[in-house]
Amino acid sequence: MGILFHEQAGIFKLDALDTSYIIGIFDDEKFVSHLYYGKRIIDSDVNYLYGPLVRVRPSVLPGQAGRIMDAIPFEYPTYGCGDYREHCLEVETIDGYHACDLRYESHKIYPGKPRLNGLPATFEKEEGDCNTLELICRDETLNLKVTLLYTTFEYLNVITRTVLITNENAAAIYLKRVLSGCLEFDHQNFDVLTLHGSWERECGPVRTLLRQGKVTTGSTRGESGPTDNPFLAVLDPAATEDTGEVFAMNLVYSGNFLGVAEGHHFRGSRLVMGINPVNFSWKLEQGESFTAPEIVMVYSGQGIGKMSRTFHDLYRNHLIRDVYPGTPRPILINNWEATYFGFTYEKLIEIAKEAAKCGIELFVLDDGWFGNRNDEMRGLGDWFVNEEKLPGGIRRLSEEINDLGMKFGLWIEPEMVSPDSELFRAHPDWAIQIPGRHRSLFRHQYVLDWSRKEVRDYIYDMIHHVLSNANVAYIKWDMNRTLTEPASASLPADRQGELCHRYVLGVYEIMGRLRDDFPSLLLENCSAGGSRFDPGVLYYSPQIWGSDDSDAIERIQIEMGASMCYPLSTIGAHVSAVPNHQTGRITSLETRGYVAMAGTFGYELDITRMSEAEKDAVRRQVDIYHKYNHIVKEGDLYRIGDPFENRDYACWMVVSKDKKEALVTYIQTHALPGYFGASRKLRLKGLTEEALYETTVISVSAEVRNEDVHSEGAQNSQKTYDSLTLSGSALMNAGYWMERLEGDYMGMMIYLKAK
Ligand code: GLA
Repeated sequence: MGILFHEQAGIFKLDALDTSYIIGIFDDEKFVSHLYYGKRIIDSDVNYLYGPLVRVRPSVLPGQAGRIMDAIPFEYPTYGCGDYREHCLEVETIDGYHACDLRYESHKIYPGKPRLNGLPATFEKEEGDCNTLELICRDETLNLKVTLLYTTFEYLNVITRTVLITNENAAAIYLKRVLSGCLEFDHQNFDVLTLHGSWERECGPVRTLLRQGKVTTGSTRGESGPTDNPFLAVLDPAATEDTGEVFAMNLVYSGNFLGVAEGHHFRGSRLVMGINPVNFSWKLEQGESFTAPEIVMVYSGQGIGKMSRTFHDLYRNHLIRDVYPGTPRPILINNWEATYFGFTYEKLIEIAKEAAKCGIELFVLDDGWFGNRNDEMRGLGDWFVNEEKLPGGIRRLSEEINDLGMKFGLWIEPEMVSPDSELFRAHPDWAIQIPGRHRSLFRHQYVLDWSRKEVRDYIYDMIHHVLSNANVAYIKWDMNRTLTEPASASLPADRQGELCHRYVLGVYEIMGRLRDDFPSLLLENCSAGGSRFDPGVLYYSPQIWGSDDSDAIERIQIEMGASMCYPLSTIGAHVSAVPNHQTGRITSLETRGYVAMAGTFGYELDITRMSEAEKDAVRRQVDIYHKYNHIVKEGDLYRIGDPFENRDYACWMVVSKDKKEALVTYIQTHALPGYFGASRKLRLKGLTEEALYETTVISVSAEVRNEDVHSEGAQNSQKTYDSLTLSGSALMNAGYWMERLEGDYMGMMIYLKAK
């Protein structure tokens, strides 16, 4: 396993679990070519993979057909020397020339995985997990050193890639485009899978046929954004949730990105991904280096579901640094949808008291606690407590919450400034802007120029002061607008194209400092919901608020979409009030709980308005969470009913790693008449065929009666279900009989325990 170099053949073979990735170096002119990616090949002598490339090899020698550059599967294609497909690297010399031609120079193979300078990245957890290849290439004319870094994971079908570019020339050079990597295939018989959406509708999978031409995904918003997630996969057109080959890329980055799947004119295809070249330019002086963000590449031979489980394992073990390892994270209650800006000290305490009585463990104070922030028009940037609203400050409030036996958490939006704020009045030039041009307001706020160290430090010091003077166990870090008129007062003209990337590096620096200074702080990111839901953010915060749409039925799609790449334990999800504030939909308290329990789990409603029966139902949910969250947090996810295709029901299950326990969640999104047409067998997945499972319904949605709809939910159902003992083979092949439930949005949770 690991990485082998066959010197005579000029071949690198990278093996990761059941995956092989093969790179060839043409012996004479040292072009670096891609030869294979897919299911593991055991042969080590794979010279034959050059195929027709032996005859039509790339060459720039006199008399050779240099034009065929456009057909060669390159490892890291460049612009300007005859390859017209999507390229990874484009440079501009100070004389204004654009061309780059990379050849192999040397390489290093070593165990482990290097850290990336200033960037989040996956890491080796235990010695022996990873092996790394550094393929050092050079453009002789430019004296530009390009190091391609590949890391293989021994027990996962994962290979990560990135690139490090060093200018070894005396003159400066401009990088105009630096993507992180490329994948080449010798056919285009693929579908393309991407994740798209909008605010309150994040992460919807879109499957498109690949033909000659391009399918793109990307962002120029300054963050990864809600419309496109930095995920791109190609898959066998016949691939399903459980079968077929999938090749996926996910970029560990939280800013402008680009992903392209291209079917090209020689009937092959190419995938590229990295920082979006739009308004990107990076000046490299002599001796300076640029590091591109990491791409995670996952191969699955067992459909989309296995791809997701591989991402989940990788991110849980090699990216996320959980501050509650091995135990459930605290169940929180957030006051946003309960009070919005209209809270008082007394109201917060009332909510916390009721929540504590129900077993909720963490109280989170959302927006509105600082400066003159009484509505969304003002106050951002003034990170000192509003003592009129909160006499005694955060310290007193947090202590009172702690006395109730709960932890305390706080909302911040540190990257922003309101025009009506002390900060803006003192430092108007700290907001991102182009001099002489109208500065766009979104949600009545501007974005601070976090490429500037003095701006970052100033904000961080204020936040540090608040956190050091109270007992804060959790921070919700929000970011509610995108970048416009992107320019920095501190950058010269020929470096303005660096702003968007420097901004992201600044965000990473401060999130890193926060983690280092407060190691037990649980950080939850948010960007108007899930607009910055990416692996870069997950490196710093183990959970991200999934969406500002808290409606249980809408949320099924959002959470199952996010689960394409991201573990359930990362998806911030809360039970909110009905009628739901975003959709007006009424669902039972239990159903809302099931959907929130497929994420981090918490509440975001005015618990003081709940009836005693409803609070009993909350206590039951708290109990279920504590009994079964270890399965959701650490187990393998299997999507059963596809919520995007199937209007009648949604179903997913999580199976513990030892396959001894499983939790099935079923939600009937559309009730059908009759018995036979409306009952169905759910073919479960991931169990041990021979094992006997005791199968117990642990919760059923209650009907929502009319008198309930203006309160927070409904009474629990009186119906009882007998436990059954069934084999894994019966449950997976014949299926579990799910009877029709009475009404739309009814659901249940079933627990399976191997005997
Ligand atoms: C964003 C978040 C919400 C809430 C508000 C507060 O919209 O997504 O959850 O925190 O900001 O202003």
